[in-house]
Amino acid sequence: MRRRMKKKAIYTLVAIIALIIIITLSIIMIIKYNQKIHSTSYKLEKLGYTKEEVTELMTTTDTKNEKILSIEEILNHEYHKDLPYFLKEKYFIKDNLERYLKYKEEHSDKSYTEIVSLINTNRDSDYYENVQKTDTNKENQMLVNKYYALPKEFVFDDLVDVSIQHCYGKQKMRKEVYEQFKKMFNDAKKEDLTIIINSSYRDYDYQESLWNRYASAHDEAWADSYAARAGHSEHQTGLTMDVTTYGVKEQEDFEKTKEFTWMQENAHKYGFILRYPKAHEDITGYSYEPWHYRYVGVDIATQIKEEGITFDEYYAYYLA
Ligand code: DAL
Ligand code: ZN
Repeated sequence: MRRRMKKKAIYTLVAIIALIIIITLSIIMIIKYNQKIHSTSYKLEKLGYTKEEVTELMTTTDTKNEKILSIEEILNHEYHKDLPYFLKEKYFIKDNLERYLKYKEEHSDKSYTEIVSLINTNRDSDYYENVQKTDTNKENQMLVNKYYALPKEFVFDDLVDVSIQHCYGKQKMRKEVYEQFKKMFNDAKKEDLTIIINSSYRDYDYQESLWNRYASAHDEAWADSYAARAGHSEHQTGLTMDVTTYGVKEQEDFEKTKEFTWMQENAHKYGFILRYPKAHEDITGYSYEPWHYRYVGVDIATQIKEEGITFDEYYAYYLA
């Protein structure tokens, strides 16, 4: 009798323990399941992203960088196969996301990198379409191109005359720019090189007549690839100069000179960049101009050289 009771007690105890284990395990499973369905990675997978893409997305989002999408923003955005790839791009700007996605759909042959560059610089609009006013308060860092224009009357009030020893004809430029040019000129001279300014500040009317001259000598497309339309020329800023040296007959031959090579290596140290580089015509909207240098200041010129981008791209990502 006592033995049977003892046996029963043991069975009961075992049953209770088993029950406790089952309940505990169930609770753990429910908690785990709850955690899972509320986890970001689960939600991203549910949206349609693969495990690899989820890992990518989780590592590329950065709450400190307001140009990048947050996880919440990705979750609120419908699934798009290209989104994780665009998000990885160095110059990704979240405000441009829809335009990147649309452009990729229409130009599947172009890489994500190319598309980010093109969209950041407004190349989904035709040249001279959707033109905005140049923010002249940005002074030496202002952007003037086929999408950003200066008012007809814009001119800096600190233009100075360039000395005849540094230029052909009569030239003016912004005082600070000329000071920096002179430092560059003197350092180049130490290596027996002579950098001569051919054209610097040009007013609106002059630019208009220049463009008209090009257009009648050739055609509008030709004029547009070599000259800016009035209001769209950096020459109106007084921050820009076309340079040459002795013995150069055609402007493009400047590329073959030692002065050009020296400037390629050194111009950034004085705050100048080659504004319309080779192989970036799609972004700048101009044919390669080995002679056209733009002052942006030493720090930015150095960064642009290091990153290998155009000023248009730099402006869109760092200054706009
Ligand atoms: N040649 C450059 C693009 C200008 O006309 O401003
Ligand atoms: Zn020029």
